[in-house]
Amino acid sequence: MVETVPQGRSVGAFVKGIILAGGLGSRLRPLTKVTNKHLLPIYDKPMIYYPIETLCHAGIREIMLVTGGTSAGDFLRLLGNGAEFGLDNLCYAYQEGENGIADALRLCEHFADGERIVVMLGDNLIEDDVAPYLQAFEKQERGARLLLKEVHDPGRFGVPEIRDGRIVRIEEKPAQPRSAYAVTGLYMYDARVFEYIASLVPSQRGELEITDVNNHYIEEGTLCYDVLSGWWTDAGTFESLHLASQLIAGKRGR
Ligand code: G1P
Repeated sequence: MVETVPQGRSVGAFVKGIILAGGLGSRLRPLTKVTNKHLLPIYDKPMIYYPIETLCHAGIREIMLVTGGTSAGDFLRLLGNGAEFGLDNLCYAYQEGENGIADALRLCEHFADGERIVVMLGDNLIEDDVAPYLQAFEKQERGARLLLKEVHDPGRFGVPEIRDGRIVRIEEKPAQPRSAYAVTGLYMYDARVFEYIASLVPSQRGELEITDVNNHYIEEGTLCYDVLSGWWTDAGTFESLHLASQLIAGKRGR
């Protein structure tokens, strides 16, 4: 069963969502040898359903999904026009190559059309209702907003250094993390995000890093954050894929 949008929910003028579901899923081989990571099952649904439901629940009505590789057509067969989720519009973009999260986001500039966007990584699962965080971002005059979560293995993620309650720097997969927080894969941006992406250069792993985008907002002094209260996980490794299924099974059981 797909969860549909609760009636009467609204996040005002801030309505456009982007879900990034490209990449090779190399950490999950051979599961991802012939299919896209985001089509793998998490308990009783394909992975991609969860970020779509998270955004729909928060009142988002228009989503652009970015994917790539050889299974792109499968997303169309699975999700169609998004009506099953209660979406007004589900559109698709195709990422050539695997050049990172910020490169995938770059393809959505036309879709965003100068408006604020909420971006979610297709392999992230969030227990919380994210509507309050989106509303907090709406009240922000400009800039970006991130969601953090305390984790036992921060070195796997983007890790913020926090001083006097503000993020002063984010490091991507640091050997010596400067906090116990992960930057989760839900990002809220104003229209400047596309300017920042245009100025990026590939990282050591050859990708345009979303962490570099976030560091631009830190330099601009307009990056805010919240700490998630419920559970959060990605599902890009065998351990986290398994954990994600357990967390969803637990939620269904309640
Ligand atoms: C990506 C981001 C990282 C973030 C993580 C959340 O990592 O680069 O900053 O913490 O998603 O899931 P990746 O999935 O590319 O390892």
